[in-house]
Amino acid sequence: MCGIVGYTGRQPAVPVILEGLRRLEYRGYDSAGICTMNGHGAEMLRCEGKLANLERLLTETPLGGTIGIGHTRWATHGRPSEKNAHPHRAGEVFVVHNGIIENHRELKEKLERLGHSFRSDTDTEVISHLIEHNMKLGSDFETAVRESLRELRGAYALCILCEGMPGTLIAARNGSPLVVGLGEREFLVASDIPALLSHTRRVVFLDDGEVALFCDGEASLTRIDGRPVAKEPTTIDWTPVMAEKGGFRHFMLKEIFEQPRAIADTIAGQVFEEEGAVFLDELKMTDDELAQVSRVVIVACGTSWHAGLVGKFLLEDLCRLPVEVEIASEYRYRNPVVGEESLVLAISQSGETADTLAALREAKLRGARTATICNVVGSSIAREAHGVIYTHAGPEIGVASTKAFVTQLAALHLLAIRLGRTVGTISREKGRELIGSLVKLPGLVEETLRIAPVVEAVARGCHHARDFLYLGRGSCYPVALEGALKLKEISYIHAEGYPAGEMKHGPIALIDEQMPVVVLAPRNAHYEKTISNMEEVIARGGRVIAVATEGDDTLVAKAEIMLEIPEAPPELLPILATVPLQLLAYHVAVLRGNDVDQPRNLAKSVTVE
Ligand code: G6P
Repeated sequence: MCGIVGYTGRQPAVPVILEGLRRLEYRGYDSAGICTMNGHGAEMLRCEGKLANLERLLTETPLGGTIGIGHTRWATHGRPSEKNAHPHRAGEVFVVHNGIIENHRELKEKLERLGHSFRSDTDTEVISHLIEHNMKLGSDFETAVRESLRELRGAYALCILCEGMPGTLIAARNGSPLVVGLGEREFLVASDIPALLSHTRRVVFLDDGEVALFCDGEASLTRIDGRPVAKEPTTIDWTPVMAEKGGFRHFMLKEIFEQPRAIADTIAGQVFEEEGAVFLDELKMTDDELAQVSRVVIVACGTSWHAGLVGKFLLEDLCRLPVEVEIASEYRYRNPVVGEESLVLAISQSGETADTLAALREAKLRGARTATICNVVGSSIAREAHGVIYTHAGPEIGVASTKAFVTQLAALHLLAIRLGRTVGTISREKGRELIGSLVKLPGLVEETLRIAPVVEAVARGCHHARDFLYLGRGSCYPVALEGALKLKEISYIHAEGYPAGEMKHGPIALIDEQMPVVVLAPRNAHYEKTISNMEEVIARGGRVIAVATEGDDTLVAKAEIMLEIPEAPPELLPILATVPLQLLAYHVAVLRGNDVDQPRNLAKSVTVE
């Protein structure tokens, strides 16, 4: 959630940290702060609001020094305000934190009894006081940090400075992501890779229970108890340009238009069309192991959960295996029936969503084979799952997920074909046909994107609406859910996705002349039934925006507005139908004057429960 950047090297720390924080602002943006150390000791600036406010403060009060830590916050404990912004200071100690310290109340009471007074409402502040306390008892900075970490319960990614040790930066991880960028006698620490890209692409991912210490141009990696850890750096193939807006007004729009490329990259190298075969080497499952799978359980959150729902249709249809799709935050606290017969598939763009990670661990503990569809190499979920299918969407910065979703669907296609070919439900011929369609998908998405100006005009006619309903059947039902989620995330308009056939059992009561109803009615097996549901809407005065196959004259005559998608094989329709809904949400949000890339209250990577 929060964004952390630490720097130590030869350059002035402030510009490096600010640039890194800018790249992480999608993680949280309700307050920001920075602390650097120079010849005069430590200096700190913090403020409420976005990073731009901190940048303004820094032009009035520049901070020097070549070592520092910075933070953008997504509030969990204590409302967004200057006093709750990080870094949190206790005496000489300065801390930035991402995560939640679960035993902060008892630690705070203990420290208050010892005479510490707290200035913020955060859980984080106990960390700085605890370290200060341990130093007062005689420990040096490093030892005091290790002692303090042992007392913390909960999740943290931390960067810590101590005024008395001006050349030292300590970072630690437990449950919240942290990655170290390796430069030439300079080091960066950050919550996510985009913050490092303009300095280095050589990185080391910290694991839970690890502590990185940087001191005068040298780095060491250890466990909390001091045991050394040896790790090879990973080279990241994302480029800094991939994390730029590239001439688009918003990251979200750029990412919507990147979808053809992202899908092509996800499929590239994974298919052998002539043989109707899919590789997926990183899934690390032999054909024998795949053949033993008798059930698939998908765990995910948000948009990734919607991808899972589409995946259920694909896997059940093509592989004839039972598939359950679970919201990860619910799954982790159930007593799920799962074991070695199940393949548990965690779908996550970031690979860091706390609930998805916990659900994956739960399934692993119970003996299930696990895999993930994930966009971030080296992320926690990618490292903990037995196997991975990477979506090659590149960095997704807009908080509302777009290109990650369609690449997850492409990855689910790959998995369904591989599994179906192995268990014998997909013949070589059928495999060839499915792959043949899949490789045409980027071109079809490109074609669909041509509708953008039409969608913008449609948005002008409905951006004042208070409620929207999205209806779909079959694999277009999850697309309805995703369309509604996109709209509410960035436009703040109430929107509901519903199975079209279920509408008459409740939501139909909401329909009147004010209510835009988006009906997903491409030509597929559910077409006729969906049209009947659409008629029910029209009969009650609802304003129908139909997403339909191009040239569908029946619908032109019925719907108030048509958003056309190209003709395509049925299994690809959910992907194509998603595109106009993404654009609709985007344009409605822009017309309402909202901050599309950083909508209120949300965060891109949800690393707390
Ligand atoms: C947050 C994001 C969503 C995303 C969800 C799951 O809520 O705002 O866009 O779908 O987390 O994230 P993941 O990284 O696990 O796909």
